[in-house]
Amino acid sequence: MVRCRKFFVSITAILTLVGLKIYFEIMYELPIFSELPPTPTEPPRNPLVILEPFKGQEDVSMNTLHDMANNLRRLLISSNSYWNNKEQNLLDSKDMRAWTCKTSKEPLKDLKTYPEPLQLFLQHGGCREYRLIIDQPDKCPYNRTFLLLAIKSSPQNFAQRQAVRSSWGTERCYGGLYVRLVFLLGVAPGQDFSPLIWYENGQSHDLLQWDFLDTFFNLTLKDQLFLGWARLRCSGAKYILKGDDDVFVRTPEIVQELTLLGGHQTQSLYMGHVVSSAKPYRDPRSKYYIPYSYYAGSYPPYAGGGGYVFSGALTPWLYLVSYFVIPFPIDDVYTGMCFMALGMKPTGHPGFQTFEIPGRQKYPCCSKTHLLLEHKKSPQEMLQMWSKLRDHVQHC
Ligand SMILES: *[C@@H]1O[C@H](CO)[C@@H](O)[C@H](O)[C@H]1NC(C)=O
Ligand SMILES: *[C@@H]1O[C@H](CO)[C@@H](O)[C@H](O)[C@H]1NC(C)=O
Repeated sequence: MVRCRKFFVSITAILTLVGLKIYFEIMYELPIFSELPPTPTEPPRNPLVILEPFKGQEDVSMNTLHDMANNLRRLLISSNSYWNNKEQNLLDSKDMRAWTCKTSKEPLKDLKTYPEPLQLFLQHGGCREYRLIIDQPDKCPYNRTFLLLAIKSSPQNFAQRQAVRSSWGTERCYGGLYVRLVFLLGVAPGQDFSPLIWYENGQSHDLLQWDFLDTFFNLTLKDQLFLGWARLRCSGAKYILKGDDDVFVRTPEIVQELTLLGGHQTQSLYMGHVVSSAKPYRDPRSKYYIPYSYYAGSYPPYAGGGGYVFSGALTPWLYLVSYFVIPFPIDDVYTGMCFMALGMKPTGHPGFQTFEIPGRQKYPCCSKTHLLLEHKKSPQEMLQMWSKLRDHVQHC
């Protein structure tokens, strides 16, 4: 009898535990859908809840954005590194701003030991007032842009641009939703392509060019100039895809997936191939080398710069919050910092492959069709991949 009772007690205990486990698993999923307000320590998932009432009131919104930027304190492990120090001072002060064209007089002791691009960045990297040489004022008519493709290119990449605009980047409508295209350019160091660039733009009307040197460490600047442009010229775009000119995008499928999003996701999306708690490269031979005396600690989570999507509604706030985020030369990391300042982190999507997949074949065939965005494609590959895809896409 005693044994039997023990048995029942054990069974009851086990069943209770299993029940609790299932209960917690269900409960764990629930907060995503629930309407509960976020707890004070958790940043809100949708910064527009806080920011939207301040639209058009720059002064008030700047105070609010400064407060929100305190989210970045999590990055500031105590150290004497240059970026961390400057960010700390910026957050502590009431009137300091990142992104001014005044050159800083703060000495960086070992600047001379830095690679040349980083030295150049530190000398000019805080100024984002560069003249727009080629504009597209009518790119987004009547607020009917569903997806704006903003593709980082360089003046000399004529073939890549041609492949993009005649394949996945074609400006057209998918099921009533309009896709528009711009390429983001600076000026090529050492070579004047301007007659060709003007000719190209006369044919295609999809170039944006600013008067700064188009170099790797000026990509953050390019991003900033684009955000400034978009908030003026394409404020109605529902989504923006920022990407490189050597990615292949299954545009019809991305459009399709974006239409399936619901709730606040439509307004506060930041989605791509997520890189979490990456550490700076400390090998001076790397293109991404960042010395310890410049930045200490891990990077914030960010979406790989090869291609990611975000909500157009965030554009003005990303631009303004960056007044409280010290410029950083690696553009996708900087974007992650700005989203972190707004209290957001990227959402991962397995369809975004912005890094090489180890062991992959050069000409992937059918198995890869679930991918939405793939890195490192030649113009020929793009055209081939598009011709396979195109036949399945319905016209509007
Ligand atoms: C587009 O939307 C903005 C903001 O909602 C509005 O101010 C503007 O008038 C709209 N433009 C057109 C052409 O509908
Ligand atoms: C970025 O562009 C500016 C303006 O052309 C230039 O002075 C600066 O050296 C460039 N920075 C880098 C890192 O190439």
